[in-house]
Amino acid sequence: MTRTVELRSDTFTRPTEAMRRAMYEAEVGDDLWNEDPTVHRLEELAAQRMGKEAAVFLSSGTQGNLIGLLTHAKSGSEVLLGDETHIFNAESAGAAVVGGLQLRTLANDARGGIDPHAIRSAIRSDDPHHPPTGCLALENSHNRCGGTVLSADDVAAMVEPVKSHGIPVHMDGARIFNAAVALNVPAGSLVRDVDSVSFCLSKGLGAPIGSMLCGTTAFVDRARRWRKLLGGSMRQVGVIAAAGIVALESGVDRLAEDHANARLLAHGLAEIPGTSVDLATVQTNIVNFDIGRLGVTPDRFIARLAERGVQVAGNGGSVIRAVTSYEVSRQDIEFALSAVSELVRDMSPAVA
Ligand SMILES: Cc1ncc(COP(=O)(O)O)c(C=O)c1O
Repeated sequence: MTRTVELRSDTFTRPTEAMRRAMYEAEVGDDLWNEDPTVHRLEELAAQRMGKEAAVFLSSGTQGNLIGLLTHAKSGSEVLLGDETHIFNAESAGAAVVGGLQLRTLANDARGGIDPHAIRSAIRSDDPHHPPTGCLALENSHNRCGGTVLSADDVAAMVEPVKSHGIPVHMDGARIFNAAVALNVPAGSLVRDVDSVSFCLSKGLGAPIGSMLCGTTAFVDRARRWRKLLGGSMRQVGVIAAAGIVALESGVDRLAEDHANARLLAHGLAEIPGTSVDLATVQTNIVNFDIGRLGVTPDRFIARLAERGVQVAGNGGSVIRAVTSYEVSRQDIEFALSAVSELVRDMSPAVA
């Protein structure tokens, strides 16, 4: 059998045996009537891990962010967020289309943070010309910045300017557990200062479907109305929630292995002439590397590497993204590094 190493995303992870068993055995009920016992268990577990009062089970990270913003901010208000965020770049402008929200970007720094002074100066005054500032949205770990992490202190510094204005803060924590494992802190400590957080069960944690949105009980009750409005309320969804419970209980600690594999990959790529990596940004399971010096288009590089059994994705310009997960072993990383090395030699003998 030809080998394939899947590095396009941690969303490609398939449910484990334990997840499939839990799904088969799940006790279920009608979740829209709030009667699915497995969903209740998952929501309690998620809220507890995030140190929030309540949580609601949603279909995706995109839905978690959309409902988070819609629940916090009124139509016609403005959401402050980083210019490299997933919400701004990769969620089909849902907040604008569905929520009538204006997204106002502020520069993300290399670690995915935003200068607190920029946040302070972006807060609108009470002037009828201006849209009111409805919400601040942060992201941790930061996908486009290469899986970089923000500490609890970083988050506190960004939240501080909006707190005294009563402006709520949403955290896109799609990979918050990667950030927590990288920093060796409980995930809840990273969202202490935000009002809501959404996180994905279906990425590095390995569940097939699902995200959680967490906050106060009143916030989550309002979020449930938006979920219904968006057609996101499901019925015997305990069959999916069961995999989410396994993901939360057994998928978190092992993320450290994915981070070690990402570092191995990054250090190997840094040694290959023609590819370059900023090693400081490799903090979790994402490796962004630049192939600009090779003089080939990213599409061609990606296609040729796929022929050698290694799947990676473009990440804008000449940047290629590789993401580790539990389906990628240390041996797979070594295989991928040899494949990149050989490809670079073939494509650009002068560089190699
Ligand atoms: C940071 C971040 N937020 C949100 C999402 C959206 O998640 P989903 O694909 O489940 O909609 C992603 C997906 O990759 C992401 O990386």
